Amino acid sequence: ADVAHGGQIFSANCAACHMGGGNVVNAERTLKQDALTAYLANYSEGHEAAIAYQVTNGKNAMPAFGGKLSEGDIADVAAYVEDMSSKGWA
Ligand code: HEM
Repeated sequence: ADVAHGGQIFSANCAACHMGGGNVVNAERTLKQDALTAYLANYSEGHEAAIAYQVTNGKNAMPAFGGKLSEGDIADVAAYVEDMSSKGWA
């Protein structure tokens, strides 16, 4: 996956709600590693796959991107989120 391209996808599609790895809609559901571990389904079984699943399908107030972004773009943005969360979004 192309992490740099994932960063561009993130800026265009995710940052409105997840600027800096936060969450302006539901403050607990951030993209930080502790929140992903606590709230993201199946995160422990595969980090990027779990992120890609939620991006594809959405959840509650988060829209689904499966009809909007290609599988490749979703894999890239998942790799970007994983890379940034592993660095604490610093
Ligand atoms: C949750 C990624 C776009 C709103 C999440 C989670 C991930 C994620 C990984 C799980 C975090 C957790 O449970 O702690 C992304 C990515 C996006 C994107 C990569 C772009 C492709 C958006 C947008 C919105 C949004 C545009 C607002 C309109 C939310 C909300 C949750 C969430 C409300 C919590 C869902 C719940 O558990 O009830 N997002 N997101 N996301 N996201 Fe997004």
